[in-house]
Formats: sequence, C-alpha cells, structure tokens
Amino acid sequence: MSQAGVRLVFLGAPGAGKGTQAKAFQEKFSVPQISTGDILRTNVAKGTPLGLKAKSFMDAGDLVPDDLIIAMMESELGGRDSYILDGFPRTVAQAEALDALLTRLGHPLTAVVQFDCDREALIARLTGRWTNPRTGRTYHSEFNPPRVAGIDDDAGGPIVQRKDDSREVVAERLATYDEKTAPLVAYYEGTGLLVRIDALKPIDEVTAEIFAAIEARTKAVRT
Ligand code: AP5
Repeated sequence: MSQAGVRLVFLGAPGAGKGTQAKAFQEKFSVPQISTGDILRTNVAKGTPLGLKAKSFMDAGDLVPDDLIIAMMESELGGRDSYILDGFPRTVAQAEALDALLTRLGHPLTAVVQFDCDREALIARLTGRWTNPRTGRTYHSEFNPPRVAGIDDDAGGPIVQRKDDSREVVAERLATYDEKTAPLVAYYEGTGLLVRIDALKPIDEVTAEIFAAIEARTKAVRT
C-alpha cells in the first residue's frame, strides 16, 4: 500500500483500540498517528496555556471544548499529506470543522474506521491498561503485557496507569462518548467513507482487518 495521501479517521469508544492500531499502522506503513489525547496530555504535562485549560475536562472524563480542539487541529494538519486521526473528531461540530478544513486544503479523507466493541470489553481494557507517558504506547496487564512488568519493551522506561482509567472516570468517559461521539457514526455513514471493524478480535486480527479494508478502498479509488 502506498502511504502517500492516506488520510484516516479512527473512530470508536474509549478503549476500543484506536491508539493501539494507529501505532501499529504508523510502524508498518509510515502513516503518522495524530492523537488528540497524546497532544493534550503533553500540553498538560508541560503546563502550557492549552494544557491548563484542558486538564479539568480530561480529569473529569469530559471533552475539552470544541473551539480549543479545532484550533489545535487546524495548526496540526496544515502542511501534512498523510495521517491517522486518533481521537478526532469527537463531536459533530469537530467533524464539520474537519470537513471544512480538508475541503480548503483539497485533501479528502480516505476512510473513517469505526471500531465496534462491547461495553464490558471496553471497561476491562481501560482499567487494565498501562501506558508509556513519554511515547503514548499502551499495554494491557492481561491482553498485551510488556515483556518485563512495568517496563516499556521499546523505550525501556516505566509504564503507568492513566488517571482517567479509574473505574469512576471510565464510566464518565463512556457516557460522554454515548452522548457526544456516537452520533458521528451516522454522520459518516452518509458519506460512504465508513468502514466498520470488529474490534473485539485479537490485536493482530484487527490490524489485518483494517489493513485489508483500507487497501481495498485505496485500490477502488485508483481504478
Ligand atoms: P484519548 O487519549 O483520545 O482517550 P480515548 O478516546 O478515551 O481513547 P483511549 O486512548 O482511552 O482508547 P483507545 O481506543 O486508543 O484504546 P487503546 O488502543 O489504548 O482522550 C483522553 C481525553 O482527552 C478525553 O477524555 C478528552 O477529555 C480529551 N480529548 C481527546 N481528544 C479530544 C477531542 N477530539 N475533543 C475533545 N476532547 C478530547 O486500547 C486500550 C487497551 O486495550 C490497551 O491496554 C490495549 O493494549 C488493549 N487492547 C487494544 N486492542 C485490543 C484488542 N483487540 N484485544 C485486547 N486488548 C486490546
């Protein structure tokens, strides 16, 4: 697959596996991941003006206001040709802003990948997740453990549990998803861009399913 001009949105509930698959794609096909959650966490850690505004929303499991996210993503996307958007858009207002920006840039999306996953699995994945705070790479204590407990396989540094992966905040994040992000499935269904993936399968099988779907789409566009 040629990665030039491949522009993907990974859509799905918290814990569905968007970050895991975006990183796998980035490694294998050199399509860069742009994770709004990672960008926001970096801003929070550095105490930037954006981080200071975003922190309370993130800690509570709520969404950061649209105007902040849209401005952040407009500056991220200008000048880029290929990417996987992981965690954006997350509201209809964000999706409309993305459409307007991409139309202006003459950069249509290749596909929107919806990760279908049931609630029980989402909760188990989030509450057992371990993350490298520097790189954003994730593990799971049961489903995807590191070779040495508590240590990142690649970077070697410590991995930690995210504060918003506590049971209470996970419940809030899932409620926020139902209210504000789930409507995006219907939004994209009407565009013909939506590809639905069974995200309950093992990680490697999900990667293969996404790759096959994207390859079929890029071939169909070329022919
Ligand atoms: P963000 O960091 O984007 O969190 P999220 O969407 O809640 O997504 P997660 O990172 O929790 O889940 P994921 O789907 O990436 O799952 P992962 O691959 O890690 O956002 C955090 C906060 O930032 C938001 O709450 C909000 O406040 C703010 N924010 C971000 N974007 C925003 C926006 N656009 N607008 C407004 N606010 C925004 O996998 C989870 C676990 O499961 C891992 O342990 C993994 O190893 C395991 N796993 C993955 N796949 C499988 C599999 N197939 N089988 C078994 N285990 C698996």
